[in-house]
Amino acid sequence: MELDSQRDFNKSIGFVPTMGSLHAGHLSLVKKSLKENKLTVVSIFVNPTQFNSKEDLDSYPIQIEKDCYLLKNTSLDIVVFIPSIDQIYPNGLKIQQFNFNGLDRFMEGAFRKQHFHGVATVVNSLINIVNPTNAYFGKKDFQQFKIIQSIFKKHNIIGCETFRDNNGLALSSRNNLLSKKSKLLASKIYSNLTFVKKNIKKFSVEKLEEIVSDYINSNKNMKLEYLVIADENKLEPTLKLNNSIKYRSFIAVYVDGIRLIDNIALY
Ligand code: PAJ
Repeated sequence: MELDSQRDFNKSIGFVPTMGSLHAGHLSLVKKSLKENKLTVVSIFVNPTQFNSKEDLDSYPIQIEKDCYLLKNTSLDIVVFIPSIDQIYPNGLKIQQFNFNGLDRFMEGAFRKQHFHGVATVVNSLINIVNPTNAYFGKKDFQQFKIIQSIFKKHNIIGCETFRDNNGLALSSRNNLLSKKSKLLASKIYSNLTFVKKNIKKFSVEKLEEIVSDYINSNKNMKLEYLVIADENKLEPTLKLNNSIKYRSFIAVYVDGIRLIDNIALY
């Protein structure tokens, strides 16, 4: 039995798809993959079809050399895969359409039309090339993780916990676009999520939404796009909680014009 699992480990390939500008959050996925697989492939590809505007794509931070350096220093068992646009999109930048069974109806899927089809298109292409045993996705993008898990049933899609800085701010490549001051402001996103978690039994969902919305929007440098409480499996927003179902609170906020998302398990 032990020999068998050893044999499997010796063959196994872990895969961590990224858009680069790597930070400790990405590296936590890479380290988990290194532990669980013989070899780890990390892809770096800024996928144009998942962006909703040219400005957003153009401003996305890129630092390939630093990324390669970081990965090399993490382990020599990492293969860095930096595909060309033609490799991923041999027939031009076409977005494949998928059936996500409603998982994309709310939150990111509602506010960023076609976003998840763009994500699934690139992940499909990458997974076909890499053919991993296990692929690692962050719960920081919980809806993305659930959608990918739902369409790649034959692959082992593993969810990894969100990596945060000391103030609770979820690490994100987009944080590179924030000043020191706006980063501090952005940490209010997590404190609002923990407020929701602490008070989920005390206030109604509507009241919690109102409190968070008032708090965030009272600062002129922040704007709440949504605060939603949704079940973990169907990702449908709810106003009435059922004790036997697991929920998360999901949030999207603009901080000084930079759009950030986060979520927290409620119990
Ligand atoms: P990117 O934002 O670079 O994230 C790559 C992976 O790292 C994703 O699975 C994301 O959820 C995870 N991640 C990001 N920040 C994290 C944090 N603070 N803690 C834990 N995990 C974190 O997500 C994408 O790229 C793209 O959509 C991609 C899947 C690569 C397809 O283009």
